[in-house]
Amino acid sequence: MPDLLTSLSAALPVFWSNPLLNQKTQSDLPEHYEGNAIGLEAIRRAEKRFKTFAPLLAQLFPELATVNGQIESDLVPVPAMQNALELPSTCGQLWVKADHALAVAGSVKARGGFHEVLEVTEQISQKHNLLSLEDDILSLLQAPAREVFSQYQIAVGSTGNLGMSIGVMAAALGFRAVVHMSSEAKNWKKTRLRSLGVQVVEHFGDYEQAVFQGRLLAESDPLCHFVDDERSTSLFLGYAASAFHFQKQLQERCIQVDAGHPLCLYIPCGVGGAPSGIAWGLHHVFGRHVRCYFAEPVQSPCFLVQMLTGMTKHPSIYDFGLNNRTEADGLAVPRASLLAAECMKSILAGVFTVEDATLFQHLQLLFSTEGIRIEPSAAAGFSGIRWLADKCNPLTTHVVWTTGGSLVPDAEFQKFLAWPRF
Ligand SMILES: Cc1ncc(COP(=O)(O)O)c(C=O)c1O
Repeated sequence: MPDLLTSLSAALPVFWSNPLLNQKTQSDLPEHYEGNAIGLEAIRRAEKRFKTFAPLLAQLFPELATVNGQIESDLVPVPAMQNALELPSTCGQLWVKADHALAVAGSVKARGGFHEVLEVTEQISQKHNLLSLEDDILSLLQAPAREVFSQYQIAVGSTGNLGMSIGVMAAALGFRAVVHMSSEAKNWKKTRLRSLGVQVVEHFGDYEQAVFQGRLLAESDPLCHFVDDERSTSLFLGYAASAFHFQKQLQERCIQVDAGHPLCLYIPCGVGGAPSGIAWGLHHVFGRHVRCYFAEPVQSPCFLVQMLTGMTKHPSIYDFGLNNRTEADGLAVPRASLLAAECMKSILAGVFTVEDATLFQHLQLLFSTEGIRIEPSAAAGFSGIRWLADKCNPLTTHVVWTTGGSLVPDAEFQKFLAWPRF
């Protein structure tokens, strides 16, 4: 049997189980990340922020009016998909957490991205005395507030979906919105952003280059807030806040989570902010009964190489002879977020990698069995259960977090269905 690193370097699918899971480890987090900055109270503050801004979001976006401005997704059983994956009920039950359908931004990135834009909005509003009372939130849609916001720029470096969420929200509130993207990012995402008044700056190279260039440009402008996908605690808290609604959904569906009823989650991972934020929030709500597994493309397993290497180094997948080429554009990231990796040291249950062919197979299967449309990145979680099948029992709940896809144009989705012939 080839060892893990040999298989990983050969771009073969691998599964890694975290030996430090549930161990007490010394945290190497920078001081300002500790305690209050990302602890339970901070996660609750993020949840409260979403609630405070909900009436404003309901006014800004017609699709949010019927849900009172709430940024949330369904938790749905997918029995036909479970059948098609040949997972017997002795393995437990399969569910989908449908972040692919999150309104306005169409991906998990709505959680972190909207939260950071709302937090910045709050700070600027306080600085300019725009907001006297909490119930005054709709005044931020009026001309005086928009006049102030228009002086500020909100910028981000993105593979696509984070740019979509930051760009759309920032532009809708009246900020100057700039999204730095790698030239390889999907064209339809760039076109959509431009049509919404967002400035898209293309950078030659990969996602890391786009973030680096964007960060550099933003540093020279004191009225620019740069959303840093690799380091932002605000993004992280936006993802983590999903735990409270998710807990409610499990209760409503009578899904028990305890020592006898484990909950296994499979979440696609790029730089690691979104899946780690979600896992962090769930850890604070459920403790050790939740087991989070991250899914990465075989050519871009940046989080896995970071976990294998330890926190004293910051490796890139290129160091392992991999090329970062994958149709899962949201996951095409060469180097992980250190904040995310540090937080996951003893919380993450494991990581597995997926070939592009499997992503498309599962994307097509989910559409044909359940009528659910997702993008390739969002299909990464479905092969996780296979690795665990012999460790599960009928009381295990499996949740695949489908992280994006509802905004994919029809012509693009037809190409996904026709793969490998496109
Ligand atoms: C659809 C989708 N899923 C998952 C992710 C991974 O998120 P992160 O890069 O924070 O790990 C992304 C990132 O853009 C994405 O677009």
